[in-house]
Parts: sequence; C-alpha cells; structure tokens
Amino acid sequence: MTHSIKFWAVVPAAGVGKRMNADRPKQYLELADKTVLEHTLLRLLQADIFTAVAVAISEEDPYWSELTVASHEKIIRAKGGKERPDSVLSGLHAISDQAADDDWVLVHDAARPCITTADIHHLINALVDDEVGGILAVASADTLKNVNANNILGTLDRTHIWRALTPQMFRYHSLKTALESTVGNPAITDEASALELQGLQPKIVEGRPDNIKITRPEDLALAQFFMTQQ
Ligand code: C5P
Repeated sequence: MTHSIKFWAVVPAAGVGKRMNADRPKQYLELADKTVLEHTLLRLLQADIFTAVAVAISEEDPYWSELTVASHEKIIRAKGGKERPDSVLSGLHAISDQAADDDWVLVHDAARPCITTADIHHLINALVDDEVGGILAVASADTLKNVNANNILGTLDRTHIWRALTPQMFRYHSLKTALESTVGNPAITDEASALELQGLQPKIVEGRPDNIKITRPEDLALAQFFMTQQ
C-alpha cells in the first residue's frame, strides 16, 4: 500500500556556541525582536510543509520554556545530545512513532535564522523525486588552501568546492541508519557526511548565500541586515 510522503523538520538546538563569547547559547541571543531560535522555527513553520518540527534542546536549558513558540502545536521537544549528530538522532527518535521510513526529513541548524520559505521549497522541489536527497549549498567565492599550521600544502580546485548549508534533506530511515552507524565519529559535521560514509551520493542544490550560520559575534548584525533585505 502506498502512503502520502510527509515532510518533517529536525532542528538541533542544543549547542553552547563557544565562539560567540556570550552569556547564553547563541540560539538565545536577540536578533531584532526575537531570539535567533524563534526566527529559525517561525520560518520553518511559515514554509507550511512540515507535519512537525522536532527541536533538540539541552536538558539543562533554562530558556526554551520561556519562548512562545515552544508551545506551538507542531513543535516537538527532543533531548539534546553530546554532539550535533546525537541531537539530530534524538530529534529523529522523537518522531519515530509517526514518521514512515521513506518520509523526508529536513535537518536545519538552529543558528541559521535567515532561511527563507523559497529556499526550503527550492530544496524540496529539486529533490523530492530523488532516491537519496541532498543539501543546500553555495559555491565557494574564495580560493581555499590546504594548510598545516601556517604552511600552505596545496590549493583546492575551487570549481569543485561548495560550502554545505542547511536544510539537509534525507529519507527518515536512511538518515537514521547513517547517523546511528557513525555515532562518535568526529568527521561527521553534517548529515550529508554520514550518508556519504554509507557510500551514498547526496546532491547539492544551490541556496541563497544569506542563509548564514551565526557563529561569531559579528554574524548577528549581518543576519539582521540580511533579514531587512529579504
Ligand atoms: O556549533 P555549530 O554552529 O556547528 O552547531 C550547529 C548546530 O548544532 C546549532 O544549531 C547547535 O545548537 C546544534 N548542536 C546541537 N547539539 C550539540 C551541538 C550543537 O544541537 N551537542
């Protein structure tokens, strides 16, 4: 029997964001009138495509329950994990009794509040008939060097280099299997790398370069600027 494919979002939001040097995790810093995490979740909900959005939150997190969006009917709280892939797996477990193996899951960083509805739908439209899935990415504008300490070992061929963004879109079962089999591997810094290790070949879909990840203090002002331009 066939069923209609559903779309789920998983948002890892249990990081501490050390590089921000702030008094709280970066997803709780203010950006215009809301926290970074509220912007991110509201934008995912606005896309109007997800059955639910599972958000991985640290158990010691004192900020989450203060957010209005925490009680939204489509938001499911999951337990944050030790590393990002553990948080994503926890989000997948939180929807395990509702998600079918071939449903699509879009994993999106809590720290990327500038994601647009158009980019979410662009990714979905490009990959919905694909076997494996793939990710939003942007071509590298800079020349990239392979270095050891401050010695340049080589120059990468820029025509083959893309920067991986999120959302990253994969089938529920294959994403869960890939993450479970790579638990603890420090080379897994995004979902695609876990699937690549399974011998699969995710696709890239060109995304907007303003879908930045808040990482350093100056990124907040940049994100605010992008939001006013969008
Ligand atoms: O630290 P980084 O910017 O790479 O984190 C990317 C995303 O993963 C952030 O949204 C962060 O909150 C999340 N994360 C998580 N659990 C961890 C570490 C990071 O959910 N243990």
